[in-house]
Amino acid sequence: MNMRETGSTVDLSAFWMPFTNNRQFKEAPRLLISAKGMYYRTDDDREILDGTAGLWCVNAGHCRTEIVEAVKAQVEQMEFAPTFQMGHPKAFEAATRIAAHTPGDLKKIFFANSGSEAVDSALKIALAYHRARGEGQRTRLIGRERGYHGVGFGGISVGGLGPNRKAYSGQLLPSVDHLPQTYNLKEQAFSKGQPTWGAHLADQLERLVTLHDASTIAAVIVEPLAGSAGVLVPPQGYLQRLREICDKHGILLIFDEVITGWGRLGAPFASQYFGVTPDLLTMAKGTNNATVPMGAVAVRNDVHDTIVNGAAAGIEFFHGYTYSGHPLAAAAAVATIDVYEKDNLFERAAKISPYFEQAIHRLHDAPNVLDIRNLGLVGGLELKPREGKPGARGYEVFLKCFEKGVLVRCTGDILAFSPPLIVNEQQIDHLFGTVAEALKETA
Ligand SMILES: Cc1ncc(COP(=O)(O)O)c(C=O)c1O
Repeated sequence: MNMRETGSTVDLSAFWMPFTNNRQFKEAPRLLISAKGMYYRTDDDREILDGTAGLWCVNAGHCRTEIVEAVKAQVEQMEFAPTFQMGHPKAFEAATRIAAHTPGDLKKIFFANSGSEAVDSALKIALAYHRARGEGQRTRLIGRERGYHGVGFGGISVGGLGPNRKAYSGQLLPSVDHLPQTYNLKEQAFSKGQPTWGAHLADQLERLVTLHDASTIAAVIVEPLAGSAGVLVPPQGYLQRLREICDKHGILLIFDEVITGWGRLGAPFASQYFGVTPDLLTMAKGTNNATVPMGAVAVRNDVHDTIVNGAAAGIEFFHGYTYSGHPLAAAAAVATIDVYEKDNLFERAAKISPYFEQAIHRLHDAPNVLDIRNLGLVGGLELKPREGKPGARGYEVFLKCFEKGVLVRCTGDILAFSPPLIVNEQQIDHLFGTVAEALKETA
């Protein structure tokens, strides 16, 4: 179907689009109307290679028949059931299937509907845990500069992206501090995989402990690999060091794996990839291939037990969402995990990652490239900003790629790549070949 040719039009005025230049978009809209495998199709009937897995989320590729069929069957059988003082089997099944992949003894699963909600839930669990063990004064939360943890007040408070905080800066959570970000162009430029420089930045946590005292700190939250801020790969040894310092001071470590979860680095979670186990782990996106909104927190068994067994009779944890464990989201999660397991998609991602690494680093001498970084099936390409117009070049390259039939993501002047885990070598070549052309044409 070609909507433009058939004269079909969509009224664009009512939808206030998120994280979008609405005025610009509505002047020249980009509409996607169908998707299959590695490709989207636009309203003017063009095929678009998906270099971003939607928004870091469609890890198994688009419209997998098994997942679509599972959701169809569920919606016909029971579209909704509450999980407050009631239950339905799919939510329990989804939790069990998720817990089979989460690291260590993070085997209790709390459901939310997005990454932002998963983050807020995790922060609340951390506070509730310390309170339950008689350390209710541990209320301070430590995030990191350039961290992205969604858009709830909790998430933007621990997050470290200025534009996301600015308008609300008077009303962010109190008692929050931030670690320094881990990226340094001079020391890390063109690193393949994890940079060797920067593990010492984890020691800044000791500085915050000295400043605030450990007895006031509940948790540290970081993305193991920061995606939304522009692909910041953790320096070798950095996460291990954070873990050690948290252990030393009784501070919970939360990994926000909304992007890194479900195979993105070639292991179920970044935690397993790096060999560092957090106490709480947030996920969303790939959990059910983004088929139906779903987020979740995986919680260490004894953190759960401390809250649940320590509570007075009655409801143990006053938190939850109407749609926590929604039947459609749960059905999609079970079917998605079936696909991940059956097709060995995490191993597949691990196998093709070296090819992806070589392909992206071939762009090192393309016009205006300042840095290239990568890990697993994540790549970032940092461009020299246009004089006085930060973000302009990144956006132009994004548009040019879209014109040429490839979807990439731009965050300011950083391009990010995160194709579905089913991507093959030809598609990787097509992706970066198109980016190379776009870079030349926007030089
Ligand atoms: C690390 C991280 N946390 C949280 C979020 C927020 O997720 P959502 O947009 O589903 O609320 C994102 C989204 O990209 C993310 O990358």
